Amino acid sequence: MAHLHITAWLIAFILLFVVTSFYKQGKAKPGKILHMILRLDYLIILFTGISLFLQYSNISGELIIKVLAGLWAIASIEMITVKTNKDKPTKAWWIQFVIAAVIAIVLGFGRLPLGVLP
Ligand code: HEM
Repeated sequence: MAHLHITAWLIAFILLFVVTSFYKQGKAKPGKILHMILRLDYLIILFTGISLFLQYSNISGELIIKVLAGLWAIASIEMITVKTNKDKPTKAWWIQFVIAAVIAIVLGFGRLPLGVLP
């Protein structure tokens, strides 16, 4: 589950850059298609995140912050892509995305016990 979770958010990060660059070049159609794939990928992140969460019997504050940061990162990715498509400013959402993703990754790899790193 942890491997799939990591693969899924790595794919989301890559698709974020691919989708926004298609939208910026005015290539709406491939942008839209990859955006839909990105949205399916959110579901994989969510599904794997929830099933990791269900392996816990003691829910700590760090775990709750990790989950909220993960959800916040996904929301930011969606806001960045939608706003890029509409030619609206995205800087604030990029900042939120970086903060949320860093919190999720640091807590996930560094602090919380499940997963691939010892
Ligand atoms: C883009 C968003 C996300 C990123 C970058 C992210 C990142 C990570 C990372 C780096 C790990 C540690 C994996 C490991 O140690 O092998 C992890 C684990 C986990 N993630 Fe996420 N995640 C995201 C979204 C989510 C969401 C939306 C949820 C909940 C619905 C979630 C719930 C969890 C849980 C419960 C774990 C297990 C914690 C542990 O290591 O003990 N994540 N995530």
